[in-house]
Amino acid sequence: MIRVDLRSDTVTHPSPEMRQAMYEAELGDDVYGDDPTVNKLQERAAELLGKEAGLFVTSGTQGNLVSILSHARRGDEVLVGDQCHIMNNEAGGTMVLGSVVLYPIKTDDFGFLEPDIIKAAVKPRDYHKPPTRLLTLENTHNASSGRAINAEQMKAMADAGHEKGLSVHLDGARIFNAAVALDVPASDLTEHVDSATFCLSKGLSCPIGSVVVGSKDFIQEADRWRKMLGAGMRQVGIVAAAGLVALDTMIDRMQEDHDHARHMASRMAEMHGISVDPERIQTNIVRFGVPAHKGDEIAARLKEEGVYINGGDSDLRVVTHYGVSEQDYDFALVALDRVMIAIA
Ligand SMILES: Cc1ncc(COP(=O)(O)O)c(C=O)c1O
Repeated sequence: MIRVDLRSDTVTHPSPEMRQAMYEAELGDDVYGDDPTVNKLQERAAELLGKEAGLFVTSGTQGNLVSILSHARRGDEVLVGDQCHIMNNEAGGTMVLGSVVLYPIKTDDFGFLEPDIIKAAVKPRDYHKPPTRLLTLENTHNASSGRAINAEQMKAMADAGHEKGLSVHLDGARIFNAAVALDVPASDLTEHVDSATFCLSKGLSCPIGSVVVGSKDFIQEADRWRKMLGAGMRQVGIVAAAGLVALDTMIDRMQEDHDHARHMASRMAEMHGISVDPERIQTNIVRFGVPAHKGDEIAARLKEEGVYINGGDSDLRVVTHYGVSEQDYDFALVALDRVMIAIA
């Protein structure tokens, strides 16, 4: 039986308060724009991120997709970090459904894109080349162990894009983790981007959903794309209700997840065969190295011990989240230690 699931923060279940709010939610038909709970969530999300308007979408992937399709047209080019989720983990949706060209640029070890690299990647006006329209950023940066990118760095990247006439979109799936880790309002991190997506169904522990924020015009366009993608939803306030509770109760508590992640990394750094730098851990994702080709075996053995992580070759991760107790983390660490000795 699985006792601890550390595959992702997406495995979180809604809190009792969320379930109660879902049960009691005031509903309407959101395609007509008259679901009061959805409207409240969209307004609250926009306010928290310092933008004019918000749009409730089904997932982070859909939020990024409608955002990119709203900023760029068929045949346009979009600059993305080479280690970002949009490039590597969203099934190529923007390329297939939007016919835009994704152009990956080098990401440093901390999820940052050097402004000079951004500017150099923008194509000159030339009919041999796709017109570069959009830059996308990611914060926290999943592939670099959930690094939080600070406000100055966000401004430097966004300024580089704007200087070259690009729009800038932020994949802020875990932007509230970044804000908590850096101890700043989330709006400080979104101030210089034109649009942002954040997820309710990750560290914020909701069952479903993400919100896109931006200007009123942008959100109107994103709404049109959402409809086209078949995600005009009806009495969806029943889900949005959990989002409102999450924004009130789940943001500050993410510090606990970050503390648990740092603690896990410190203990893991002492284990046989694991390479991890606890000092790098700022939020809730701990990426760690194991001997080549051993990742799947480690994950399989851990599962037998009641601890669930994703497999891989030599790069694995654990993600801390709501619903896991101190004892569960200890249980997972003891099991991992045993497995690492066994496979040596
Ligand atoms: C950085 C980042 N962006 C976007 C997404 C996509 O979110 P969803 O799984 O809700 O489509 C994820 C999911 O893990 C993510 O980590």
